[in-house]
Amino acid sequence: MTDIRDRVRCRALHGKIVSAAEAAAAIKPGMNIGASGFTPAGYPKAVPLALAEQIKKENFKINLWTGASVGKELDGALAEAGGIQKRLPYQTNDALRKLINNGSIQYVDLHLSHVAQMSRYGYLGGKVDVAIVEACAITEEGHIVPTTSLGNSASFVQSADIVIVEVNTSQPLELEGMHDVYVPADPPRRQPIPIVKVDDRIGTPYIPAGPDKITYIVPCDLPDAVRPLAPIDDDARAMSAHLSEFFMNEIKHDRLPKNLLPLQSGVGSVANAVMAGMAESPYENLTVYTEVIQDGMLDLFDAGKLDFASGTSLTPSPDGLKRLYANIKEYRNKILLRPQEIANSPEMARRLGIIAMNTAIEIDIFGHVNSTHIMGTKMMNGIGGSGDFARNGYLSIFFTNSVAKGGAISSIVPMCSHVDHTEHDADIFISERGVADVRGLSPKERARVIIDKCAHPDYQPMLHDYLERAEKATGHAHTPHLLDEVLSWHIRFMQTGTMKAK
Ligand code: COA
Repeated sequence: MTDIRDRVRCRALHGKIVSAAEAAAAIKPGMNIGASGFTPAGYPKAVPLALAEQIKKENFKINLWTGASVGKELDGALAEAGGIQKRLPYQTNDALRKLINNGSIQYVDLHLSHVAQMSRYGYLGGKVDVAIVEACAITEEGHIVPTTSLGNSASFVQSADIVIVEVNTSQPLELEGMHDVYVPADPPRRQPIPIVKVDDRIGTPYIPAGPDKITYIVPCDLPDAVRPLAPIDDDARAMSAHLSEFFMNEIKHDRLPKNLLPLQSGVGSVANAVMAGMAESPYENLTVYTEVIQDGMLDLFDAGKLDFASGTSLTPSPDGLKRLYANIKEYRNKILLRPQEIANSPEMARRLGIIAMNTAIEIDIFGHVNSTHIMGTKMMNGIGGSGDFARNGYLSIFFTNSVAKGGAISSIVPMCSHVDHTEHDADIFISERGVADVRGLSPKERARVIIDKCAHPDYQPMLHDYLERAEKATGHAHTPHLLDEVLSWHIRFMQTGTMKAK
């Protein structure tokens, strides 16, 4: 067992150090497990691996709640052991996704800012029975110093009967001091969140616990299983250039200050590429108030463009993680990790005037957005924080490539096969072809701008034809649709492998 006693600075807690298997034995069938972790960062690894072994022997299931997606040692191991009954609020693991889409696991896809309060309100089927959180240290007073994410850990620790802390020696001690832990009181006692600038500190640098609250401490030395990001391609570079030009025009018209407003950037390859592209932009003294800090933001720091980033998780690629750890003394003064109910708070998005930038799977001509479902039925990842920011930001921008699957799919369709964000939540759409600014436009005006600016030329005539026929058939109704053929695009793809009409 790795010696972690120097990291457990509260000596009274040394007697609670046990093996992963001993701690996992406290987990019983049907329990709600609240784990740390947010987009493969800062999740427990040793206890879940031991729990998966226990489940294989004893054949039972638990419900798993986290901050967001977690690595293979948690989602992968428990899914493969057949140990998950219900999973929330976000995931990206292949094995888990398969079981969600074949009906073996019930998945509840939630706005990430809602999760902690929903669990405290008792909306999620009971309370958190066991909290398992990764830490880089435990303070002299017995408080928990988190690692590369904060997510819902503080709230889960507050609510749980059993608290298991995994002290991970692969996580650098310099992470201490990068967290700002604040759990709001619940209504009717809730107060305004006292943040007015992205770098305001309002809480403690640790998760308040104390020796009595902690049940077991488990050593671990497995690193975060961060994933490589797709290389930045020409389409992503084009979207980034369109964004930069759009910002320039907003500044010219006094709708944005020269250093913009706090940026929020979503997850995935497109979002990362767009942020990385900002490093070549003319903007300086930028700030970030977001969920996930990916490589693109490190690029902005290194280019001297970014002053400060507030998020809930550090999720660089394997190379980015090396870069982060090598320069952690530099970055730690410019990065703050908050609980996700603060990082993603609608109150903060509105007050700070966040520029929300998220990626869509598909958008429709009237401005609805599908962020989650492939062909309207298969869950991809989940809504994540996109709704928290998109509805409440100063500006709400969605990116999408104009086509997917080598051009066989148009990502601009007559009607989304699933809707996560409505026409009321999005202002700007950007594809590699251009920018559709739909602020202040009616549905029929929006449709023409979205088709002309964002759709691929291969699909523009089909989309215009659909719109014109729908207008004629409905007598130019407010949102004209041919309801009997609206999903034929998706059906055609499923039957013939392309959305293109014969
Ligand atoms: N129809 C069908 N499939 C599509 C599609 C479309 N219109 N557009 C994309 N896809 C597929 C891609 O082919 C790819 O499939 P693959 O994994 O089999 O190769 C997959 O969707 C992911 O697309 P990719 O181009 O790799 O995009 P990405 O890595 O940038 O991720 C989302 C895009 C939408 C999946 C991702 O951003 C997401 O999960 N968003 C929702 C959560 C969110 O916004 N969180 C941010 C809050 S801060």
